[in-house]
Formats: sequence, structure tokens, C-alpha cells
Amino acid sequence: MSDRPTGLDTAAIVASLVRPELCALSAYTVAAAEGMIKLDAMENPFPLPDAVRARLDAALADVAVNRYPDIAADRVKDALSRAFGIPPALGVMLGNGSDELIQVITSALARPGAAMLAPDPSFVMYRLNAIHAGMRFIAVPLAADFGLDRAAMLAAIERERPALTFLAYPNNPTGNLFAADDVAAIIRASPGLVVVDEAYAAFADASFLPRVAEFPNLLVLRTVSKVGMAGIRLGYAIAPPEWIAQLNKLRQPYNVNALTQAAAVALLADPGWIDGQAEAIRSERARLAVALARLPGVSVFETQTNFLLARVPDADRLYDGLKQRRILVKNVHSWHPLLANCLRITVGTPRENEALLAALTGLLAGS
Ligand SMILES: Cc1ncc(COP(=O)(O)O)c(C=O)c1O
Repeated sequence: MSDRPTGLDTAAIVASLVRPELCALSAYTVAAAEGMIKLDAMENPFPLPDAVRARLDAALADVAVNRYPDIAADRVKDALSRAFGIPPALGVMLGNGSDELIQVITSALARPGAAMLAPDPSFVMYRLNAIHAGMRFIAVPLAADFGLDRAAMLAAIERERPALTFLAYPNNPTGNLFAADDVAAIIRASPGLVVVDEAYAAFADASFLPRVAEFPNLLVLRTVSKVGMAGIRLGYAIAPPEWIAQLNKLRQPYNVNALTQAAAVALLADPGWIDGQAEAIRSERARLAVALARLPGVSVFETQTNFLLARVPDADRLYDGLKQRRILVKNVHSWHPLLANCLRITVGTPRENEALLAALTGLLAGS
């Protein structure tokens, strides 16, 4: 006889010990993508240019993996500051993707009873992190055109006094950029920290980065994930140094590993390739938007990201049909009433986009 509890006992013990709000969650899942055209995760579809790949290979070959990484990662911060124009007087904190920074910021502000506010629909990790940290999550519906409902946001701020507000700028999954006036009004009215999450900054025409010093309660969040470096997991937060000093206490000491640090310094040394690829994605985005909008029954929403939100006649059927044709997009139909029959499609390479258009054309014609 084994002493091991049966599966049933273990499940009961786990359920009695783990916080019920976590047991009620489903784990974050990602669809299997082996051999598929992958247009579901807002990745940059282009490979590294040869010269950049050579620089990366050389840098990685030199990493002393027997040593802990540089705890301050100053070379990475310098490289980011130079590449992306971070104003020098501001503090910078690095994370294992911006996902980790969302977690750090949330746990720093999760006093008992504190609230997190975000428009809805927006990036799912905000709500999940509020649940993880035991914060009340206040979701304010977006207007029908996906803009911020300024009056409803200001009323919620007045009523709930949120310790933390997240605004994805541009927004995921809708793709649009909120009006800068609305964002500034929310920052001014907020008693708490406002995080302007600029994951898609490379594809947008506006940014709050140059305005961080204007507000004592603004933090801008960025990531290298959408500009060709999703695999190295590197996000960065920019805020007045007083914020960064406190948030840094919650960061795990070696959260950005030595390989990521070396890779970032090598990849950002000459960032022209990043701008070039972002520009190529923007022009493919314009071409794809026009072509998609010509398909019967398809409408495409305005976007300032590297993905397009499209309303289609039957999102479930088209999603399945594309998957059978080895093309993976994101079906967001069930996420929110405002997203009814919507697919979120990451802009791919010209060939990938052609394959998508051909498959959709066939599916919409009923073949
Ligand atoms: C708005 C927004 N913020 C943050 C992230 C997470 O990015 P990272 O890869 O840096 O964790 C995403 C990824 O989809 C996003 O859409």
C-alpha cells in the first residue's frame, strides 16, 4: 500500500488550501502553433537581419552563465534609453516582460480594500493581477466606438478612489488609441497611480513618455515584445524616481537574466532595424486593412497597433476554418459584448497576410 493520497484527496486538500479566487480562475493558455501561420500573439513576424543576428550570437557566446546577472542591469537601461528616447531625469525599472511589471506594480498598491480600475475590454492581465493581489477590480465599459467613456471613468474614479488605473495606449484587444485629453483628465482626477501601458508604442502616433514628468502619478509601461524581441522577455517601466525606488523593492533581485541582458544590449546597439521592421508592419497593416474590408460582411476597426480587429459574419466558424487551414488568429467573440463576432489578427509578413486573405475569401464564399 502506498502512503500517497489518492487523486481525489489531493484535489480536496489543494482546494481547501489555495485561495478560492485562484481556484476559480482558469490558467492562461496559448493555442498550439506548431506548423501554423501564427497571427494570434502580436509578435513581429520578421526574422532578425543577418548583421543583427551575428551581433546577438557573438554577445550570447560571451555570457558568463556561471555568474548571477548584473543586478542593476545599467547597460540594458542605457541601451533602452538611447534606443527609445527615455528622458534622463526619470527612473527605469526592468521586468521579465511587462507582464512581470504589471504584477510588481499591482502588488505594491494592493493595500487591503484597494481598487484597480481599467476600461473594458482591455488587456486581460490587469484583471487577473487584481485577483491575484486581492484587489477589487472595477471595469468601466468602453464607449461603442471603443473610445474611453470619459464621464463614466471620472465617475468611477470619484466613487471608487482607485489606487491603480491601467490604460493600454493603444488598447488591446480593440487596437485604437484613446483620446490624449481623456487620458490626461483621468491622470489628473486620479488619487492613485495611472499606468499608461504603451506595449504598441512602435505602431502608434502618440505617446505619454514625453509627459511623464508632468504628472506625479503617471508611469509609462513599455516592452520590446512587439518589436521583434518577444523571446527575450524584457519590459520596462518609466516613472519619477520616487516611484521606481519603491517598486524596485518588490522586484526579484535577478528578474532579468544574463542572457536577456546580453541580448538586449546587442539588439539595441543599433536600433535602426527595429524602426525599419515597425515601418514595414505599419505599411502591411494598411494594405491588409484595406483588403480585409473588401471581403463580404467584414469590417475593420481603426488601429494603431500591429494587429487588426475585424468584425466578421461568424467569428467561430471563420476561426475554426482558418485553423483547419493552418492559420491561427485570435477569436475574441466571447470576450465582451462589444467584441461580438470579432477576430484579432496580428499583421504578418506579406506572404502570411496573402495566405490569410486567400483563406478568408474561400471561407466567406462558403468553400
Ligand atoms: C497592452 C499590453 N500590455 C502588456 C503586454 C505584455 O507584454 P510582455 O510580452 O512585455 O509581457 C501585452 C501583450 O499582449 C499587451 O497587449
